[in-house]
Amino acid sequence: MKIKNICCIGAGYVGGPTMAVIAQKCPEIKVTVVDINENRIKKWNDPDVEKIPIYEPGLSDIVKETRGKNLFFSTDVDQAIEKADMIFISVNTPTKTYGIGKGMAADLKYIELCARQIARVAKDDKIVIEKSTLPVRTAAALKNILDNTGNGVKYQILSNPEFLAEGTAVEDLLNPDRVLIGGDIETENGMEAVNALVDIYATWIPKENILTTNVWSSELSKLTANAFLAQRVSSINAMSQLCEVTGADVDEVARAVGKDSRIGSKFLKSSVGFGGSCFQKDILNLVYISRSFGLNEVADYWEQVIIMNDHQKRRFAANMVQTMFNTVAGKKIAILGWAFKKDTNDTRESAAIYVADYLLNEQAEIEVYDPKVTEEQIYSDLDYLGSRSGDVNRQAVTVVDSALVACEDAHAVAILTEWDEFVNLDWKKIYDKMYKPAFLFDGRRLLNSKTKKEIGFDFYAIGN
Ligand code: NAD
Ligand code: UGA
Repeated sequence: MKIKNICCIGAGYVGGPTMAVIAQKCPEIKVTVVDINENRIKKWNDPDVEKIPIYEPGLSDIVKETRGKNLFFSTDVDQAIEKADMIFISVNTPTKTYGIGKGMAADLKYIELCARQIARVAKDDKIVIEKSTLPVRTAAALKNILDNTGNGVKYQILSNPEFLAEGTAVEDLLNPDRVLIGGDIETENGMEAVNALVDIYATWIPKENILTTNVWSSELSKLTANAFLAQRVSSINAMSQLCEVTGADVDEVARAVGKDSRIGSKFLKSSVGFGGSCFQKDILNLVYISRSFGLNEVADYWEQVIIMNDHQKRRFAANMVQTMFNTVAGKKIAILGWAFKKDTNDTRESAAIYVADYLLNEQAEIEVYDPKVTEEQIYSDLDYLGSRSGDVNRQAVTVVDSALVACEDAHAVAILTEWDEFVNLDWKKIYDKMYKPAFLFDGRRLLNSKTKKEIGFDFYAIGN
């Protein structure tokens, strides 16, 4: 089976970059990315390719190369579905905010809407691919909807979870550790669909790195991978607190344990807490699934990863207040970095939001600088928490376009995202412009403590 026409529903952080890379690597395939968000599609089609809605190193170059040739962005979802042989569903699956499973389960309403739309529109056989991260056994629900509400056409449902990390999405897509494809591998038709997708990835990925499994293993492997990664961050963050009271240094501990090849050195960077749109939501989902099968010990085990992460964010902010003589009321605090990690403009679940909220509850005045996050996004993140009115957020928080401006007349600076540019700021100049004692709190262990102390800062890094 040779695929000629792909549709991807959802032009977000996964759909956009993934389809751009497929379009680049498979010029003979027409790839159309569709979304109901008109503004987002308008930005993907902006003649100035630097204005595409997602910042990822290297992405704009690929979009420039492929857009209008075999990569298209559109709001005409029906037409793209009708013409496609293969449909990727890459819509958001956030934590439910209502009803049964509120605050825990994944909200599958967008997935179901896609399935119903495909069923309504499709007039010939399609391969439908779960690209979104989904609870194990979602494919059964999708199949049920497609088979029972469709026009009698045949569907093959594959699970092809995405493992890219933001900030390195293009590199991760070009050289993935593995690609995972789950399908109905027991049947001939199922295997044919799996192979059609394998052939696409095999254009640029070695075949031995393309794993095929049954659908349930594939769905569950995605949640498992995120749980294991987040668990490592919570594990090292737990150690960071122990380091602070014992005189150990968490980077030294991480280096020592990471050298053990059975443990490995990656994902052992202590931080103010992990953020991002997926770790928390996927673990909560895993906890919910486990509980719904009556597996309470399994649920409790994974829930602890989230509890530790919440603790880490809170204790960082609490330590700031305590260090600054137990009050930050009326004091100006500069926050450097709002994104949940460097090299992305994504702020979902960023630790910065929660640290800022804590400090605002203590009546601090905050000035924020982030190289890629807009003022509008920062206010929207704070407003979403609902801790105070939008007007109060706008009075207490100022967003500026330089780190130096943010730090001027500040009592304290907090580094909350590890942007490279923060390392080489003129820290002496910053120190000179701050109130004394000048507090510097490094939530990312980004800065050299010795040189900062020599300048005169009261310097605090997590895990020291
Ligand atoms: P996103 O919010 O950036 O994008 C999802 C897009 O889907 C939105 O633009 C939304 O408007 C659109 N959409 C929703 N319903 C639609 C519908 N019915 N028709 C058309 N468009 C619709 O989300 P994302 O970060 O790209 O994540 C998508 C999925 O991929 C999630 O399940 C997530 O868990 C998973 N994932 C994300 C990452 C990541 O790094 N962000 C990595 C791996 C997996
Ligand atoms: C993560 C996974 O790494 C991807 O494999 C997965 O596809 C994705 O989730 C997803 O399913 O959405 P992402 O959230 O984009 O990717 O970014 P990560 O690099 O994993 O970072 C997540 C958070 O953990 C960030 O806030 C980061 O600063 C923090 N982190 C990461 C640490 O604090 N320490 C570390 O050592 C690593």
